[in-house]
Amino acid sequence: MLLSITFVVFCTDLRAESLHSGKEPDSAYLFSYASLKDGGRNGLHFAWSVDEKDWHAIGPEHSYVRCDYGTWGAQKRMLAPFLFFGPDKLWHCVWSVNEADGVVAHAASKDLVYWERQSYPILMQKGNCLFPTISFDTKSQQFVIAWMSKKGDDSADYVSHTKDFKNYSPVEPTAKNGIDSRQTIRIGEMEESGTVHKVSWHVIETVLKAAQHAAYEQQLWSEKTADDAHRFASLKPVDAHIKINKNEGKKISDLLMGVFFEDINYAADGGLYAELIQNRDFEYRLSDKKGKDSTWNSYKAWTLKGEGTLKIDSVAPLHQNNAHYAVFNVEQTGASLVNEGFDGIPVKAGERYNFSLFVKAQKGINNLLIRLIDKEGTVLGAINMRDIKGEWKKYEATILAKRGASDAYLEIIPQETGSLALDMISLFPEKTFKGRKNGLRADLAQAIADLHPRFVRFPGGCVAHGDGLENMYRWPHTIGPLESRIPQRNLWNYHQTAGLGYFEYFQFCEDIGAEPVPVVPAGVPCQNSSAGGAGQQGGIPLEEMDAYIQEVLDLIEYANGDVNTEWGSKRAAAGHPKPFYLKYIGIGNEDLISDIFEERFTMIFNKVKEKYPEITVIGTVGPSFKGTDYTEGWNIANQLQVPMVDEHYYQSPGWFIHNQTYYDKYDRNRTKVYLGEYAAHLPGRPNNLETALAEALHLTSLERNGDVVSMASYAPLLAKENHTQWNPDLIYFNNTEVKPTAGYFVQQLYGQHAGDTYLPTELKLSNNEDAVKKRLATSVVLDSKTGDVIVKIVNLLPVSTHVVLDLQSLGILSTEALKIALTGNPTDKDVKPNRSKILVRDDFKDELPAYSFTVFRFQTK
Ligand code: AHR
Repeated sequence: MLLSITFVVFCTDLRAESLHSGKEPDSAYLFSYASLKDGGRNGLHFAWSVDEKDWHAIGPEHSYVRCDYGTWGAQKRMLAPFLFFGPDKLWHCVWSVNEADGVVAHAASKDLVYWERQSYPILMQKGNCLFPTISFDTKSQQFVIAWMSKKGDDSADYVSHTKDFKNYSPVEPTAKNGIDSRQTIRIGEMEESGTVHKVSWHVIETVLKAAQHAAYEQQLWSEKTADDAHRFASLKPVDAHIKINKNEGKKISDLLMGVFFEDINYAADGGLYAELIQNRDFEYRLSDKKGKDSTWNSYKAWTLKGEGTLKIDSVAPLHQNNAHYAVFNVEQTGASLVNEGFDGIPVKAGERYNFSLFVKAQKGINNLLIRLIDKEGTVLGAINMRDIKGEWKKYEATILAKRGASDAYLEIIPQETGSLALDMISLFPEKTFKGRKNGLRADLAQAIADLHPRFVRFPGGCVAHGDGLENMYRWPHTIGPLESRIPQRNLWNYHQTAGLGYFEYFQFCEDIGAEPVPVVPAGVPCQNSSAGGAGQQGGIPLEEMDAYIQEVLDLIEYANGDVNTEWGSKRAAAGHPKPFYLKYIGIGNEDLISDIFEERFTMIFNKVKEKYPEITVIGTVGPSFKGTDYTEGWNIANQLQVPMVDEHYYQSPGWFIHNQTYYDKYDRNRTKVYLGEYAAHLPGRPNNLETALAEALHLTSLERNGDVVSMASYAPLLAKENHTQWNPDLIYFNNTEVKPTAGYFVQQLYGQHAGDTYLPTELKLSNNEDAVKKRLATSVVLDSKTGDVIVKIVNLLPVSTHVVLDLQSLGILSTEALKIALTGNPTDKDVKPNRSKILVRDDFKDELPAYSFTVFRFQTK
């Protein structure tokens, strides 16, 4: 007998509050408020009462709608919400967002549970919109929004009229009109202010049920293997009989497994991008790193040793996009300029390193000694550069490392006194991935290639849409000579050189045989932008949208255009006359689905579709598997017939266990899905066998639904130790080591053992308890190129499973099959798959250990 703790709790709650006994009143009172306790950050709450005296908080902290205005942390506040039931039979809620902006936030709902998209009209150019209220003027058939301009005696009241909460009449001053019907009611410990409505009992029941349902789901989804000893106390090993039906296969996407690369956690600079010099162009800025301790500036990572001075200048720079350079004045020979790299410079004995720099205006200095030294000052390798002279000119040399060190320094030692200006000081290992110039770190790139990804999504994530309009990732800024690229603040709070730019991304995709999937902003920045302004910072102004759309079209020409086209010729000039054969483009990244978004997305989508109908546009449906952005994003996709949308969700292992039929419910004939970001997250955020198995479980249902889910990528991909902004990640690394996680091996097994046809199976278990069934999942695919049939079985139970595979329909040729198993304790982080050869018969038996993921590969031709 299995114990289902969560279910018991849910039933108790239901019985107590929500089951219809016929004894409830016809109507009751509903109080709506945003608790001051959390500064309004927990959104709209409800309480109910039958007599307006005894109030019952619902949830009690359940939030029905949260404000999405502004940045996380400081903003996203719902202040003084005012709820109003309109003649349009909709509940309208208006609220203030903060004490500064002249904005009234609005959202509407049919049932007080599902809330439509929010809007944040700027009604006051100067002043605030405090304590907003709504009433309805029957004469003009318009809603009247009124508010106070500020707190205190000199505050004035204002009104504006609207029919649709999209267009507002000019703001007018008004006499205090007394429509503020807010009441103050004690809820628990707090005096809360809000509106009271007399509603039918059905309304109360609806909001109660929503809170109960959410609490129930929360309990269910928080199930962890740590509770398994209790939950499965008496569970015996399970027998599973799996019959494969080869003759009823359905075609599935052959692009399912891919990767999502974002420059987060130092994934690019200091990570995959093989450049070893930090701040090579002296373009670091204070604003690159937000926070009171920031000391980032043009000197970051550089120090001066000996007698001399180092200054930053910007007169006649190497390139206007690279405005700063260093002026090194040597007063006594021996002075040197030292770069610390990214946590030191890793140097391998016997390897070569390509050094280069630009120099101008040398006075007295004609020779440079370039050295790699370790912390003790031991020289690892050195080279002399002679005959330095003239205006900006590039000098290059190769350093052979005679010794190695994990954290060396680079030293530039002028051999004479005098001065010179320096810029773009660069050091790359000669052995980059595939030996590319301006290339990628070989071991990290290989770890990605070993996943056998069918596509690479880049450059983000939030990096793509940016922290405010100015911070959007603009692809043309990232191509061409390195000194002409435009570096910028990385939204994850560091500096982004753009050295790893669009050309390099496309080239990497080609090098590993993956489809490139670039993501461009949908004309709006990240909804959590810290860069001020209303909500999503208003989006790119409409009068600038044509130019922006052209930029998106140019990207397609850059990738695919003939060498005689404007942008195709730039690709050719970079050394790639052949097209990159771009087939997919993402527009937007989990944006807030607002009117501002919809307008811009539609404009871009229509133009891309018109000019490049062969390109599959991938739209966006918010950061969650449900909710307003998800629903509204899907509505837009359906309306515009967007070929594919990008879904994102980071959820608990329990969510994955209890949502295995998530895609089975999707319409097969509509927009396809790209699951662009997902991962199983446990509290404390480890990436261990438990999270990996939850992801493996989910991937069985993605394969089963491979006719509707075309692509999927775990997120984030890379994380440099001690520089992570996000956990967990798939591959951790430092300067010398690559550390794949348990989740990595799951992705790799799916990537290396993918198929293009899904074969249905009949699964019979000796134990049919729901909790058991949900923790055993299987997926069988056929790789029609090789003819191999691949069976994947996830066992998330604390007991082993004796599996019998009925292979009769397969017509197996070889008596040997490949078995790869990943197993251990759920908390294990350091697990690796174990490969073995096994003997095969028609009725094939095996024992799958507790907490395991097993792949069998059978040859049929
Ligand atoms: O993958 C990390 C972040 O998660 C991405 O940048 C963003 O799209 C999502 O919120």
